[in-house]
Amino acid sequence: MTSARVRGAILISGRGSNMAALLQHAKLDDSFPVQFALVVSDKIEAAGLGTATSAGVKTAALKSCREGRSVWEAELQSILEDEDIDLICLAGFMRLLSADFVAAWEGRILNIHPSLLPDYPGLDAQAQALDDGAAEAGCTVHIVTAEMDAGPVLGQSRVPVQPGDSVDELSARILAEEHRLYPQCVAQYARETLASKEQAHAG
Ligand code: GAR
Repeated sequence: MTSARVRGAILISGRGSNMAALLQHAKLDDSFPVQFALVVSDKIEAAGLGTATSAGVKTAALKSCREGRSVWEAELQSILEDEDIDLICLAGFMRLLSADFVAAWEGRILNIHPSLLPDYPGLDAQAQALDDGAAEAGCTVHIVTAEMDAGPVLGQSRVPVQPGDSVDELSARILAEEHRLYPQCVAQYARETLASKEQAHAG
């Protein structure tokens, strides 16, 4: 019996290791409630695009266009609609989505950020934690809202900051947790979405 799955897209800008973790979980776990049908990058050269193609997932590269963000987002929207996407997972996607786009996808865009939000939003979160002398760092999965790195938290994972840590060392320790946390939160979120849809259908 095939159970219902949410159709997901993953948006990346670079390496795509969180994307790979999501694809891997969806592939290895028959009960994973998301089918990732599409990976989109805003950078043609993103290494993650090759990883996604090797995993048999359809990809699209949408580089910035001179006409601006609304045209770029309209193109993205059209690709997402073509693939009947219900859920967007940002995975190292470094472009800000407009308030209008986020409103159109309200509650259906998730993000992973390499800090314990609300601490250290924005760029270079791991360096921010080190500069601040934080004793602990970590990662957060949250629902995306119009305000950057600020939506409702779905899960967090903590790691210690070791004396003398470099940004790379701390980032690697956090990244290992990201790869565990993101698939877990996405699965939980999708199960709840499917359950409430089923309930609405029954009622
Ligand atoms: C990850 O650490 C992710 O949390 C971070 O970029 C890295 C992407 O790595 N995202 C942000 O900082 C978003 N604000 P990946 O491409 O290997 O998944």
